[in-house]
Amino acid sequence: MMEEANIIGQEIVRIDPSATIMRKRDGHPLSTEEIHQFIQGLVAGDIKDYQMSALLMAIYLNGFNTKETADLTDAMLYSGSKLEFESDTDIVDKHSTGGIGDKTSFILAPIAAACGVKVPMIAGRGLGHTGGTVDKIESIRGIETSLTLARFKQQLLADGLVLIGQTGEIAPADGLIYALRDVTATVDSIPLITASIMSKKLAEGASGLVMDIKVGNGAFMKSKADARRLAKSLRQTALRFDKNIITILSDMSQPLGNTVGNSLEIMESIETLKGRGPSDLTKLSIELAGGMIHLAGKSKSVAAGVKKAKEAVKSGAALTKFKQLIERQGGDIRTVDNYSFLPQANLKSVVTAPKSGFITSFATEEIGHMLVELGGGRKVANQEIDMAVGFTFHHKLGERVTEGEPLLTIHHHVEQMGQKDELSDRFTSRVIKIAPKKPAKKVELIIEQEIEWS
Ligand code: URA
Repeated sequence: MMEEANIIGQEIVRIDPSATIMRKRDGHPLSTEEIHQFIQGLVAGDIKDYQMSALLMAIYLNGFNTKETADLTDAMLYSGSKLEFESDTDIVDKHSTGGIGDKTSFILAPIAAACGVKVPMIAGRGLGHTGGTVDKIESIRGIETSLTLARFKQQLLADGLVLIGQTGEIAPADGLIYALRDVTATVDSIPLITASIMSKKLAEGASGLVMDIKVGNGAFMKSKADARRLAKSLRQTALRFDKNIITILSDMSQPLGNTVGNSLEIMESIETLKGRGPSDLTKLSIELAGGMIHLAGKSKSVAAGVKKAKEAVKSGAALTKFKQLIERQGGDIRTVDNYSFLPQANLKSVVTAPKSGFITSFATEEIGHMLVELGGGRKVANQEIDMAVGFTFHHKLGERVTEGEPLLTIHHHVEQMGQKDELSDRFTSRVIKIAPKKPAKKVELIIEQEIEWS
């Protein structure tokens, strides 16, 4: 069991950082001690950014084996606090590698909690083309997402549902490493992604994890082969820490659901909890929740978990849980039944189809960048974002459209008319492609899933 391998606090022999970098540069595996010392040194300020950056590039180029990946995860996990629970068997979280319009957390978490799962969500803010769960929920007036870990734990045990933003207490090494990866072209490395995700998730004290690995032109992983490699790496690491895991590969070749933008996505999530959501968003959220219910031991199979998840939506129990979450964290509960309490853009401009035909592709990642340009996402950390702006799409891949009919709606402000025109042109000229022939292949929303018990 990996936690026993934690060597923080032990007397250790100091290793020369450049020797560690050289060993990885030359393709040798690193020892547990070398990895722990590097991460401890980074957090303490003894290892400099340039040394960490060099090691990251060496890892990027030469890889890490399963043991090294688990050692890195362990070192990053113990760079901060780790929540402990007397019994963790019904604590299960979900993580997504991120995508455009991905809002499943707001739907699956209350569903799973309504079915008896304890869901500890420590979520991130958006940066660049992917949106952040914390930003989105903060479009609900008054909601507090910076709770202490003590309060986080108390609410989790009492209500089975809590959502906070990343705190410096959880895996602080990840924040330091991620900032370096971002500027040294070392983000898309499977061992580095694995350790980054798993160190944060293990710190929450869950016994199980459902991982939604997005595949396609709006995702980190552009190909199924890469997504499968990441899924395998996550499963192997979870097992080394005695955690149960389900990995799901899901499509990200178009926005998930119909909306992209902070308050628009909250509205769509609430609609989905009311049973009126778009079919792709509903299906994926229910499937992920079903996996969580099963991992928590609340159903005999994933299929039985899915059935329970559907019932929780139908009965209104999931919506009630969502209301409870908002109320407990100081948010305005009236939002759930009256969306005018959410930030609203004062103009909705419809973009029409420039020709008749079938939708054959979305430049999905670019849609994320377009939201940032409109003010709905941030280019640099800590930038203020506009919760109200965004896009509502009226069609999915493979659907037929007729010239002049609405393709999407841009939600913007009066002073953004010029920008709206520019975005509108981009959507019709290159972001949404329309062709005379229906695409031969149907989009497969849920590509595959695997379960691994520790
Ligand atoms: N999500 C994370 O938390 N870390 C990564 O490295 C990639 C996606």
